[in-house]
Amino acid sequence: MPNNAERTYIMVKPDGVQRGLVGEIIARFEKRGFKLIALKLEHATKEHLEKHYADLKDKPFFPGLIKYMASGPVVAMVWEGLDAVKTGRVMLGATNPLASAPGTIRGDYALAVGRNICHGSDSVESAEKEIALWFPEGVIQHTMASAEWVF
Ligand code: TYD
Repeated sequence: MPNNAERTYIMVKPDGVQRGLVGEIIARFEKRGFKLIALKLEHATKEHLEKHYADLKDKPFFPGLIKYMASGPVVAMVWEGLDAVKTGRVMLGATNPLASAPGTIRGDYALAVGRNICHGSDSVESAEKEIALWFPEGVIQHTMASAEWVF
């Protein structure tokens, strides 16, 4: 059943930040209709990133992935809206940019799987874990009160 208030964790990786793609990625999520719930710039430690990618710890690319992710700040975000997890993944495009369709973020801006600009939760369960890991302080609750400023 679709969930209007589903949340996903979206992250601009260090290459996306260095290439000046933060605004572009935020704009795509805003224009699609998602609501920004939380956002911060963070230079994560290797330990933190090892927790984020714990499921991949036995993969041969894991050490390189952690080094790359720790090479600069990332932009951590929570976006909310109808089917946010699945639609977020569609907007990102396939993991390997060789397979990502033009029109997706990776399909438009990335060439290599090891430098693929952005991350998005792959399930609602992963989203909950990732949001708790990156935003241990919690996220703000939006109320309709803000609508009085929107015309
Ligand atoms: P994964 O969770 O499989 O993909 P996604 O980011 O689309 O959820 O992999 C995590 C990251 O690991 C991926 O974004 C880039 C990196 N990676 C490699 O560097 N080499 C690889 O062969 C794969 C599969 C992933």
